Amino acid sequence: MTGCGCTFFQRHLAGDRGPSVGAKRARVSSSPPPPYPPSVKGGEGTMPVQGQLFSRQTQALFFNYKQNPVQRMLDFDFLCGRTTPSVAGIVNPGADGFHKLFFGQEEIAVPVHGSVPSACKAHPTADVFINFASSRSAYAPSMEALKQETIVVVVIIAEGVPEQDTKRLIAYARANNKVVIGPSTVGGIQAGAFRIGDTGGSLYNIISCKLYRPGSVGFVSKSGGMSNEMYNVLARVTDGIYEGIAIGGDVFPGSTLSDHVLRFNNIPQIKMVVVLGELGGSDEYSLVQAMNQGKVSKPVLAWVSGTCAKLFSSEVQFGHAGAKSGGELESAQAKNQSLADAGAIVPDSFEGFEALIKKTYDALVAQGKIVPAAEVTPPTLPEDLHSAIKAGKVRAPTHVISTISDDRGDEPSYAGVPISAIIENNYGLGDVISLLWFKRSLPRYCTRFIEMCIILCADHGPCVSGAHNTIVTARAGKDLVSCLGLDAPTFVEGMKKKGLRVPGIGHRIKSKENRDKRVELLQKYGRANFSSVKYMQYAISVEAYTLTKASNLVLNVDGAIATLFLDLLDSCGMFSPEEIHEIVNIGYLNGLFVLARSIGLIGHSFDQKRLKQPLYRHPWEDVLYATHF
Ligand code: ACO
Repeated sequence: MTGCGCTFFQRHLAGDRGPSVGAKRARVSSSPPPPYPPSVKGGEGTMPVQGQLFSRQTQALFFNYKQNPVQRMLDFDFLCGRTTPSVAGIVNPGADGFHKLFFGQEEIAVPVHGSVPSACKAHPTADVFINFASSRSAYAPSMEALKQETIVVVVIIAEGVPEQDTKRLIAYARANNKVVIGPSTVGGIQAGAFRIGDTGGSLYNIISCKLYRPGSVGFVSKSGGMSNEMYNVLARVTDGIYEGIAIGGDVFPGSTLSDHVLRFNNIPQIKMVVVLGELGGSDEYSLVQAMNQGKVSKPVLAWVSGTCAKLFSSEVQFGHAGAKSGGELESAQAKNQSLADAGAIVPDSFEGFEALIKKTYDALVAQGKIVPAAEVTPPTLPEDLHSAIKAGKVRAPTHVISTISDDRGDEPSYAGVPISAIIENNYGLGDVISLLWFKRSLPRYCTRFIEMCIILCADHGPCVSGAHNTIVTARAGKDLVSCLGLDAPTFVEGMKKKGLRVPGIGHRIKSKENRDKRVELLQKYGRANFSSVKYMQYAISVEAYTLTKASNLVLNVDGAIATLFLDLLDSCGMFSPEEIHEIVNIGYLNGLFVLARSIGLIGHSFDQKRLKQPLYRHPWEDVLYATHF
């Protein structure tokens, strides 16, 4: 065993020129390999796929729609000159249809499916499943994906997936010839071919790390953040990576460092392997074992970070769950020594890593074993209109003029008056009409007259031809009346199980720290004037629970109105429970919104006529013609 690494080194690097690349080799013959921690079962090639996982044709299904990482994958495709998008479909429980995204300059409609099986059925050639569910929800879709015949690789991004769940996923994957990458990973990338989610960082970084075309290095790391750093280093001192994988920072990674090194060993285009380990756990020893067993024939450069842990007098937990200083064998020092003893080229410190990588690469080039990848110029990705406008680079004509209201910013304003001020100053319906139709605040006697007109003309009995009902009944999910029996977590989780988001919860801008003033005003009114606000309180307890998941899952103005409307019906003592159910089911609340919105719609119509706007024709370039859907 002892000589194995040395033979490996001489065979691949030193050649006739002796041990020029790794002064570290001296250590190899002098010290026997350390015993492996008992748990190490590495070196046996547990991963079913023994070569490339990805290619330029690989397509993925993306679980839990997150626009930015999906768009980043498609932008990477464009830089690589792929002809088919790498995201075949999106799985978003409870939803279906499509999302518009850019593929280069063109917009494409990416199909959205409500379940994992339906997505797999629709895209039988997509064999990678990228799971962007939160740690609370990552297990079920990952297992469901592993069970699909078409899926080979499952990538789990979330940090904090329960170890018990991960172990079950790993056991299932191993027994069924599937590959798991993660959890707690940024993913991986095959240069010039396929990118998982956010791997490689910004497009600027992708270009500066030359990830748009394949190089000669196989890279595997525990840390996603450090992968980006290393892609940069590798682009500087080698011809770049062929493939890079971040296995994730958890104690139990779905696939291990050695799984990927053994795979890299079988990929002819990969000529040298770079490994970045971490203190804690025993994963690196499976690589040591594989190397000692002579299973790795390509030069391996390795560094295990966390040597500073020894400077602390007590146990240290670093950022990743698995990066914890434990016994001596789990220390970065012991792992670095063992890797060196097994034949890996190991620097004295991370600072020395780059120079050793360069030396190794240059030696392989000198020996003719690496023909540096030809440089190519990636195409320039068209800039997004929004960012170009923001940067003052382009100007775009608008298609519509509006002078009565403005919905940009934190809250809408009517003729320049923020709607929270309208409530605070007790404006009436006539005042709102005055602002939206006449663009000014008329005196109270005028606005009272407008209100009288509305009151007097509100109905003219059932026999008038124009008096047909326009009750719009768009019921959203389970009605709140019957939810009160459930505690908030049970209600929210019950909705989640049905693939439904709680209506009235969530805001694009507002958050726990930046509350919606309109909601506060409505709630203040309810508290001061209603004899009971139990529905409002229930909504607040739902909000308290959803806020534990994300800070923007606040009760929004629709949710506040809906629950306070129920409180009004319930607490005024003038409606029976049956009548309240009927009012909710028929859609009175929607009627309230339709009535309110009609004032604005009429105002916009007057505004266009006042501005003498010509016949409108929507511009062609603003339409995605997706006739195949
Ligand atoms: N009503 C009720 N609940 C709602 C509503 C609503 N209207 N809207 C959303 N929710 C819930 C969802 O159901 C979900 O619940 P769950 O967590 O119980 O499943 C929750 O809000 C969160 O929303 P999601 O969109 O599902 O998930 P999230 O926004 O948390 O995104 C992700 C998940 C992408 C994994 C994110 O948490 C993340 O990026 N985590 C970090 C991952 C990471 O760091 N990985 C390692 C990288 S590599 C390295 O080394 C750096």
